[in-house]
Amino acid sequence: MSQLHVAIAGATGAVGAEFLRLLEKREYPIGRLTLLASRRSVGRTLRFRGEDLPVTELTPDAFRGVDHAFFSAGGSQSQAFAPAAAAAGAVVIDNSSAFRYDDEVPLVIPEINPEDAFRHHGIIANPNCTTIITLMALAPLHRAFGLRRAISSSYQAISGAGAQAMAELERQVHDWVAGRSLEVKHQPKQIAFNVIPRIDAVQDNFYTKEEMKFVWEGRKILHHAELAATATCVRVPVFRSHAVSLNLEFTKPVTRDRALSVLRDAPGLAVQDDPTAEIYPTPIEVSGKNEVFVGRVREDISVPDGRGLALWVVGDQLAKGAALNAVQIGELLLRGR
Ligand SMILES: NC(=O)c1ccc[n+]([C@@H]2O[C@H](COP(=O)([O-])OP(=O)(O)OC[C@H]3O[C@@H](n4cnc5c(N)ncnc54)[C@H](OP(=O)(O)O)[C@@H]3O)[C@@H](O)[C@H]2O)c1
Repeated sequence: MSQLHVAIAGATGAVGAEFLRLLEKREYPIGRLTLLASRRSVGRTLRFRGEDLPVTELTPDAFRGVDHAFFSAGGSQSQAFAPAAAAAGAVVIDNSSAFRYDDEVPLVIPEINPEDAFRHHGIIANPNCTTIITLMALAPLHRAFGLRRAISSSYQAISGAGAQAMAELERQVHDWVAGRSLEVKHQPKQIAFNVIPRIDAVQDNFYTKEEMKFVWEGRKILHHAELAATATCVRVPVFRSHAVSLNLEFTKPVTRDRALSVLRDAPGLAVQDDPTAEIYPTPIEVSGKNEVFVGRVREDISVPDGRGLALWVVGDQLAKGAALNAVQIGELLLRGR
């Protein structure tokens, strides 16, 4: 395979670090790697394959000769620079929400809708981290039993809000232990020893944007425009990996055993389900892993006629929820249809 010129926009961030780790680990065919961030980071170096590479400023001219450009520098940077990167001939794989709802931009989870990736016009969107983790379990069940309604309650790690928010949780824990007053800067309220039921902007319908992303993106990825879905997204004082409680209602009857068999056969999923033996996934145990984990599978007693299922899904949102999914999209393009 020929060697690519790859760029990472947002290389110094939480997702950027994960890109560097995964591109090296998965032996992405890189001949040249360009690391981009804000002017603040110019002069820094980041390690890749044993070499210290310089960070340069994200500008519209930074993409000359770039084949694949991974963007994780926030929505406004994607808006400002992804079109220039695509115009320069790069395929942009964007982690922000800037283009996810554009009909011309595919929104792709390679295990679920790989064919959509090949309809791109220079930009492919990576779905929201919680959407990816949730749909990894929900999509195979939908294919088997026909999803009618989904209720999602997510317990989202602080690293989902970026490197500064992670540092704030750590500082607050230290300050609390030392009896000092806590500084609240990067989250709406104290996150240490607390949970915050508001992630992203509040919409006209009083849902948050994070909650609506699950609805909008779920319909687009599953090609299921009538899907009835609702979500409550909560930030929790966990460093890494999101957990989701799902209540699903299907058009066909479903049993625990049949659901487990579908989930065991689904690519990218791992079933850990024996609660009496304390076998179920938790964020600490799944962090750094590629798979999305499922447990606590049970028939939902509130849904009539055996058409409901309740389950617990946990995945590393910096890996499968962000960088890994984006790298898999790049690998899919390289492999071809
Ligand atoms: N964290 C997650 O779990 C997660 C999951 C899925 C998607 N995402 C998305 O990925 C993106 C990055 O998230 P993150 O968590 O990695 O954030 P982060 O840790 O705060 O990192 C932000 C990155 O963007 C760069 N950046 C910020 N402003 C810039 C500017 N004006 N020009 C150029 N570069 C700029 C930063 O560079 P400096 O270091 O120079 O400031 C840094 O490299 C966001 O769009 C986020 O929604 C995050």
